[in-house]
Amino acid sequence: MPARASPANDPLMTFASDVTLGLTREKQKELPSKYLYDELGSVLFEAITLLPEYGLTRADERVIRRSAPETGRCFGGALIAELGSGSGKKTRHILNACLRGPSLTYAPIDLSATALAVCAGQLDNGGIEVHPIAASYLDGIGRAAALRQRKQKLLVLFLGSTIGNFDRKGAVEFLRKIGSCLLPGDGLLLGTDLEKPIPKMLVAYDDPTGVTAAFNLNLLGRINRELGGDFDLRMFQHEARYNAEHRRIEMHLRSKADQAVTIPGAQLRVSFVCGETIWTEASHKFALAELPRMAAEAGFVHQQHWIDEEWPFAESLWVRVAGP
Ligand SMILES: C[S@@+](CC[C@H](N)C(=O)[O-])C[C@H]1O[C@@H](n2cnc3c(N)ncnc32)[C@H](O)[C@@H]1O
Repeated sequence: MPARASPANDPLMTFASDVTLGLTREKQKELPSKYLYDELGSVLFEAITLLPEYGLTRADERVIRRSAPETGRCFGGALIAELGSGSGKKTRHILNACLRGPSLTYAPIDLSATALAVCAGQLDNGGIEVHPIAASYLDGIGRAAALRQRKQKLLVLFLGSTIGNFDRKGAVEFLRKIGSCLLPGDGLLLGTDLEKPIPKMLVAYDDPTGVTAAFNLNLLGRINRELGGDFDLRMFQHEARYNAEHRRIEMHLRSKADQAVTIPGAQLRVSFVCGETIWTEASHKFALAELPRMAAEAGFVHQQHWIDEEWPFAESLWVRVAGP
């Protein structure tokens, strides 16, 4: 008998149920940021990385280049898995530094099929064997770990400060779960965007070209395309805010009028009052001093970090210690 579709195994049903949950919240409507990355969203994110105001990706790449020799010295010949690889553009430096012998296995893990296709297209050459894994982080890391050869180390990459999408407690819990899939001596290379002057952070998420606005609004477009919704994208406005209490940039979509939206694929009709927002993404910013603490709480030792001075950004190399 064929398995019945349930939210657990049908991505569209999961999307519909997450949309329903998020848009029926009483205090603050929300949509999970992972849904920003459909085909168009992934392309728009790549465009964001080229914006002069978004220094984060260039800073990450500069520190990756600087740290690559040491990463290669510690993890040469390791199996490499990357959480939320996106296009994997910056990853080449790490893979080249870790290549020993004729080939190296690299397992990018991403929910976005578009991102994975670009990643495999860019990196599957020069001795790099790419095993793309279309899955969420935790499902994917289990599948990647199964590719490990006997006695081979595993190095997990989580770049681009994507860890900032989790709240601080959730980030440590998530990293602990990742750690539980690793063996003592395995590594985690973690990119974190550091706190900087608020105007500099805000404009990085609200560029004058409007690319980040398009990236954010595309989430409503995705609901229209995949769930038959009738959001009028022109009736919502992109907004980036700094939340000082939580030290994070938040992206919101603000309703420009009192309006109602129907989403047949989620069997939902939802009302918005003028000025009300949907919270779509959090990007927590970090202080250097909190990183070793996070490592210890998640079951790692903080081995070394590299900082970009031009756009404060840290790349940290953590090593898994024996533990539960
Ligand atoms: C901010 S982008 C970063 C891409 C790349 N690592 C970089 O540094 O430029 C986040 C990536 O993570 C993916 N992603 C988001 N949530 C995910 C999840 N829960 N499981 C797997 N991939 C996810 C998105 O599809 C996207 O490609």
